[in-house]
Amino acid sequence: MHRTLIFLALPIVAQAASFTPDVSLLTDLPQFQIQNLDKLTLRSVLKTINDKRLKGTTFYFGSTLADPSVAPQNAAWTSARFEDTFNLAVAENNCKWFSNEPAEGVFNLTACAELRNFAFQRGIAFRGLWHNQRPDWLANNPLNFTVSQLNKTIIPNAVQSVIEGLGKNLVSWDVVNEALTDSATPGMSVTECVVNASRWPNFAVDGDASSPVLFPDASFLNTAFLNADKARKKIGSNLQLFYNDYNGYGGNFPSQAKTDCAFNMLAQLKRSGVPVDGMGIQSHYSANPGAFPSKESAHFTMDRLKSLGLMGAITEMDCWLPDNTTESLRWQASIFGDLLDSCLFSSNCNEFILWDPRDDESWLNGFNTTGVHMGTLFDSSGNRKLPYFEVLARLLNFAQGGAEPCSTSSGTSACIV
Ligand SMILES: *[C@@H]1O[C@H](CO)[C@@H](O)[C@H](O)[C@H]1NC(C)=O
Ligand SMILES: *[C@@H]1O[C@H](CO)[C@@H](O)[C@H](O)[C@H]1NC(C)=O
Ligand SMILES: *[C@@H]1O[C@H](CO)[C@@H](O)[C@H](O)[C@H]1NC(C)=O
Ligand SMILES: *[C@@H]1O[C@H](CO)[C@@H](O)[C@H](O)[C@H]1NC(C)=O
Ligand SMILES: *[C@@H]1O[C@H](CO)[C@@H](O)[C@H](O)[C@H]1NC(C)=O
Ligand SMILES: *[C@@H]1O[C@H](CO)[C@@H](O)[C@H](O)[C@H]1NC(C)=O
Repeated sequence: MHRTLIFLALPIVAQAASFTPDVSLLTDLPQFQIQNLDKLTLRSVLKTINDKRLKGTTFYFGSTLADPSVAPQNAAWTSARFEDTFNLAVAENNCKWFSNEPAEGVFNLTACAELRNFAFQRGIAFRGLWHNQRPDWLANNPLNFTVSQLNKTIIPNAVQSVIEGLGKNLVSWDVVNEALTDSATPGMSVTECVVNASRWPNFAVDGDASSPVLFPDASFLNTAFLNADKARKKIGSNLQLFYNDYNGYGGNFPSQAKTDCAFNMLAQLKRSGVPVDGMGIQSHYSANPGAFPSKESAHFTMDRLKSLGLMGAITEMDCWLPDNTTESLRWQASIFGDLLDSCLFSSNCNEFILWDPRDDESWLNGFNTTGVHMGTLFDSSGNRKLPYFEVLARLLNFAQGGAEPCSTSSGTSACIV
């Protein structure tokens, strides 16, 4: 079972936090106290935001949705949360390439469509994912495909078949995921930023720059987006086309050079007339100094995307905890809250998506580290945690027309926004 993501540079620190900042939470205030929030569902607050058109368009607060076989014991809980909490679902693995095209030219969208149907039956949105987790027939280039085959047949067919096959009512799609190198250095060209990642389709074997070169440059991105656009037009869909990657924040988080790669790449795509609508900012963090972006940094990134005419989306959000203290949970709540605010209060961000709805299903628990993890909003029994209530309070504040709360996840002394 492919349950985990690959290629994540998650700054996990296994020891207890050496420093836990004093944070202020909305849930500390009388008007947002948990006993009152307890009476609201998150979906009802989303409904207020969307009924009032406070974001101009629909705002989505979503989560990954796993294949039902992953956690059958949680089926009733999952069904309920996609009714009262989330208004968007993204398939955890069932819509990835290995699932959609098990043999060359043979598409099987059944598993993906089942999750889409699960979402549509609950009246909520569905986001698609074209990940670099490839089917076996493509891994390591066993059939020795040429550039021309990849660029003219294999990538176009995969993108078009899935988008057309799933139909017009999808809200957004991660067309390409994780194409950029983690070893970016200042001034790298877009081609270098992509080829330097040493991943398929540039190299036959992911991570092995000594494996055969399959694709000489970054133009497979053009191919993927151009074909996604063709497919959405063909079926009359308003699907938003995203590039999705991690370490996407500049400023103080973690790799300015990688962020520059992303912006240069997106700008180049736009200049070439390639239809890209936004960037999904993967948000796998940990409550440790330097292991998450500040709210200012997140806003800076949203503004930078806006200057390119692009949407931003917070995707794959979770936040690993080094211990189970109240201080750590408060810190986690402030990190979720600040990031959510950065999306709510940016005109070009309409999607905030969690990676895994509850702790016992979280990929973080698969890491063999000592530590507590607890990276999601719901505990391993499905109970709402402090970060859940803080997120609800931030949404409620926005729904009520409140001002943007201060940045607090770096400590209350850094109240900058
Ligand atoms: C398509 O996928 C579904 C779900 O994974 C599976 O049950 C079915 O057997 C597959 N169909 C074919 C023709 O392989
Ligand atoms: C692909 O190329 C490799 C290396 O040249 C060769 O060993 C292999 O037999 C080829 N595979 C096919 C299916 O032609
Ligand atoms: C990636 O960039 C580094 C630093 O410039 C360089 O040493 C390395 O050879 C490059 N790797 C590839 C595959 O281009
Ligand atoms: C791949 O196709 C795109 C158009 O989809 C084209 O711009 C690009 O030059 C092609 N790349 C290669 C290496 O052939
Ligand atoms: C965290 O602490 C709470 C309160 O003591 C406890 O109920 C819970 O089981 C702990 N969770 C973990 C994952 O250790
Ligand atoms: C996980 O780590 C613990 C402690 O180091 C070790 O005893 C255990 O064998 C490890 N489990 C796996 C599956 O690697």
